[in-house]
Amino acid sequence: MKGLFITFEGLDGSGKTTQIKLLYNYLSGKGYDVVSTIEPGGTRLGKKIRKILLNTKGVEISPKAETFLFLASRTELVSKVIVPAINEGKIIICDRFFDSTMAYQGIARGLGKEKILDMSLWATGNLVPDITFLLSVKPGMGEKRKKVSGLGPDRIEREKASFKKKVFDGYLDLARDFPERFTVINGEKDINDIFRIIKEKVEKKLKNR
Ligand code: TMP
Repeated sequence: MKGLFITFEGLDGSGKTTQIKLLYNYLSGKGYDVVSTIEPGGTRLGKKIRKILLNTKGVEISPKAETFLFLASRTELVSKVIVPAINEGKIIICDRFFDSTMAYQGIARGLGKEKILDMSLWATGNLVPDITFLLSVKPGMGEKRKKVSGLGPDRIEREKASFKKKVFDGYLDLARDFPERFTVINGEKDINDIFRIIKEKVEKKLKNR
């Protein structure tokens, strides 16, 4: 049986990590073979690229260079982790995928979402998620949550509020562009209510596989 490829998107602090853990535990508990991975990261090279992208201080990274680094990490992840897992019939849950590049680099950095989609499809060999959950929280809210969790901001989180607003609007724009793939959930709802929506959607998809 073909695998299932699920992605989670949203601003930092939108609750992706919590929902991914819940979904991973739920599906594993039901006996499914589940792989949970992250972008950028997920491979040895990806982890190194993640450090360059998020933890570099005092080095300017241009929007185009930033895009290539995200794509380099993604190419590795797709060929080494995601495609093999799909071919083995597993369920793959990925924290961010090319919709992040479209929202952050394509829309918020202004490189153009069509251009980024083209490049992303080239990088992934046309791999597109089966389901994408967008946890939609307003920019300020996500930051408050991150502060509570004690994690300091990374290079991209240190961007201005106007940048995050562009990402927020950009994501909603993408959800309108790809309604068959996107499920938009108000991330400010109760954790269990959010998870119920996710669980129902995934179960339906698994039945129709
Ligand atoms: P996270 O793993 O904590 O979500 O951090 C990843 C950061 O990188 C987050 O601020 C979003 C950003 N990002 C992009 O700008 N473009 C991308 O393609 C990806 C995957 C992430």
